[in-house]
Amino acid sequence: MSLPFDARLFREALGHYPTGVAVITGIGADGKPAGMVVGTFNSVSLDPPLIAFFPTKDSPSFAYLRSADAFCVNVLASDQEELCRRFATGKDAKFDGAGWRPSPLGAPILDGVVSWIECTFDDIRPAGDHFVALGLVQDFAVDRSTLPLLFFQGGYGRFTPRSLAAAPEPDLIQAAHLAEAIRGEVEAVSSRFGVNCSVLAKIGWDGVHVLTADRGSVPNPFQLGQRMPIIPPTGVAFMVDSSPEEIEEWLGRAPFVGDDRKELFRQVLDRVRDRGYSVLAAAPEVFQHHREVVTAFEMSDRLPRQRGIVQQATAELADLYEPDLVKGKQYEIESIVVPVKAIPGHPQIAIRMTGIAGSVSSEQVEIWIEALQLVAATAAERLR
Ligand SMILES: Cc1cc2nc3c(=O)[nH]c(=O)nc-3n(C[C@H](O)[C@H](O)[C@H](O)COP(=O)(O)O)c2cc1C
Repeated sequence: MSLPFDARLFREALGHYPTGVAVITGIGADGKPAGMVVGTFNSVSLDPPLIAFFPTKDSPSFAYLRSADAFCVNVLASDQEELCRRFATGKDAKFDGAGWRPSPLGAPILDGVVSWIECTFDDIRPAGDHFVALGLVQDFAVDRSTLPLLFFQGGYGRFTPRSLAAAPEPDLIQAAHLAEAIRGEVEAVSSRFGVNCSVLAKIGWDGVHVLTADRGSVPNPFQLGQRMPIIPPTGVAFMVDSSPEEIEEWLGRAPFVGDDRKELFRQVLDRVRDRGYSVLAAAPEVFQHHREVVTAFEMSDRLPRQRGIVQQATAELADLYEPDLVKGKQYEIESIVVPVKAIPGHPQIAIRMTGIAGSVSSEQVEIWIEALQLVAATAAERLR
């Protein structure tokens, strides 16, 4: 059947309406637990207490769940995105490693959820390509009164209350102090080589310029205070001392991360860890689009759709990272970044060189890397 309208636009228009995210769980006829993610969970009636969700007609999970005596609506918390992704796939292993306990009628209550509502099926009616599943509430509780996970414009996020006070960012202030301690060294590199040299700090998942010295022959497109969202492979220098969990989170920030892409980003990270620096090599025009997109993002509300555009532009640069530096060859260098050894309890910082005009020899690049590594070592020494 051909649709009387553009289905993609329809989805996009509806995607502008935010929803919470819940996992419907139950133990079906053959005794095994099942679960599926829904964004369509809603309250319907207080007397009698009814809730609803809309499962698609072709969901194998729902076909099985409807055979359960009872089901449980698990309202996910903002730190359960990983769990959400697992329960939104069609795979069997959804419950592997997921802790749960049975509700009074035996439906799984997942560990860490905000709240749960146990129901029996009141009615299941067809509605287009979905069902309207009505649940009669039997029991419920708030397990963890924390921020829920939200879904909006195809991306996950969380609620932030409006506040007149600017959010304090103690990490940023601390990072600016750390950078100040090596101002002389950063400025010396900038003047000596006629390049731009800056200190970048990892603040949340942004790389922030906390100190800049711009003696380069090419103007620095990134100003003091400017933020770049960390999306693989960017921010790789911040990941060298990170925990496996943090590295997973970093990898998860790339768009549509398939296993091969993840592997590529891991190799980039291994290379930076081995060599102690990160190099991005290509002609300046290649980065024009990326720069524009990042700058536009900074000025925007940073909504999921805008983030998607930055993710795409960033991931396209992946192959330009960490080239071999072959002796005697010439390179066009966009940036060199050297991480400062992590100082426990302090934000991660790195030294970045940009503003490099024309092609340069690999020998020259090596000299710059050494100079930046010296600044990074001085920083680590001074800040200990
Ligand atoms: C945020 C989000 C909301 C979803 N909402 C629904 C929904 O309301 N109804 C539905 O049938 N599927 C929804 N899905 C898709 C299902 O979670 C997914 O198709 C299902 O879990 C796949 O499992 P199955 O193939 O084992 O049935 C949603 C997925 C996500 C990521």
